[in-house]
Amino acid sequence: METKVWIVDNAVDKKGSYSQISQAATLLRENEVVAFPTETVYGLGANATSTIAVKKIFQAKGRPSDNPLIVHIADRKQLEEIAVDIPPVANTLIEHFWPGPLTLILKKRENVICDEVTAGLSTIAVRMPDHPVALALIQESGLPLAAPSANLSGRPSPTSAMHVLTDLNGKIAGVVDAGVTGIGVESTVLDCTAEIPTILRPGGVTKEELEKIIGHVNMDAALFAGDKVPKSPGMKYTHYAPKSPLIIVDGSPSFLQQLVDQQRALGKKVGVLTTEEHEHFYKADVVLACGKRADLYTVASCLYGALRAFDETDVEVIYSERFPQEGIGTAIMNRLNKAAGYQLIREK
Ligand code: TXA
Ligand code: MG
Repeated sequence: METKVWIVDNAVDKKGSYSQISQAATLLRENEVVAFPTETVYGLGANATSTIAVKKIFQAKGRPSDNPLIVHIADRKQLEEIAVDIPPVANTLIEHFWPGPLTLILKKRENVICDEVTAGLSTIAVRMPDHPVALALIQESGLPLAAPSANLSGRPSPTSAMHVLTDLNGKIAGVVDAGVTGIGVESTVLDCTAEIPTILRPGGVTKEELEKIIGHVNMDAALFAGDKVPKSPGMKYTHYAPKSPLIIVDGSPSFLQQLVDQQRALGKKVGVLTTEEHEHFYKADVVLACGKRADLYTVASCLYGALRAFDETDVEVIYSERFPQEGIGTAIMNRLNKAAGYQLIREK
């Protein structure tokens, strides 16, 4: 299959007045899969009411079928069509954070969204992305769009159309290219069917921001241990990993440099993942600075690009610095830990 690329700027309005958007929307209505930008990462969209369409997502990504997808909507009315028993806390969150990087787990309305989207669960994950192109495409298609991140299963999520094409060229009908995404890590997944709202996946909206609006929020216990079975089915799979092993280092730059030197003495090519502030400390085969430690949002936005960039080099092992587990740092460390398979070396 030839994958079409439609280049658009972000000035598109919600009316979808661009012919590129109309073409992409037409393919979606014909039950093809199309990648599109959101404010977090690129998504791989398909008609969420069609089994035929949704199966194409799982096929293109090589995604296990027991890992449910997020449904993307463009207005509040669409929510009532796919979810029932929406609790007051969800409505409060919607007012504050939609459109935006917050996915809510709600009770699913029967017989609208196909079972392949929800992997047979009685709940549904929904979000309204804060990106003009995503909103225009959803509106123009007139459909709720199931959309996981547009990467091959297990690879880092795509933050540019180029990343999407690296993984999925020839396997999907098209990609709408509106440049790089802003936030760079996926949405926060919040279970609103639990007695106390519970974060199943940390992401673009932080725990601190949620708690300012609705008070105490739980973190799913599985987020703290690599071996427990998490409630969010997707969290149990290896994720975001570069091709070479990644190891997180909890210690000073000089300790990390010692580890690099040991590996290089064995003849290994070594990569270091750091930030602009610490870049000058390191001597290795490849040193990549990923944003500024002083502003962790800049780290989030470059993280997946950096993990992918290591795959373009010949490094055989990658050492990464650690980040504070607060604010957006919680999402950064969640993705880094998974990319590293929870391998960590601590300075004594
Ligand atoms: O930022 C994002 O959320 C991106 C963009 C494209 O919107 N999408 C994304 O989708 O990250 P995906 O499929 O890569 O991640 C969806 C996550 C998975 O961890 C999945 O297990 C969880 O949401 N999820 C989906 N439905 C669920 C449900 N009913 N209950 C619990 N977790 C669910
Ligand atoms: Mg994903």
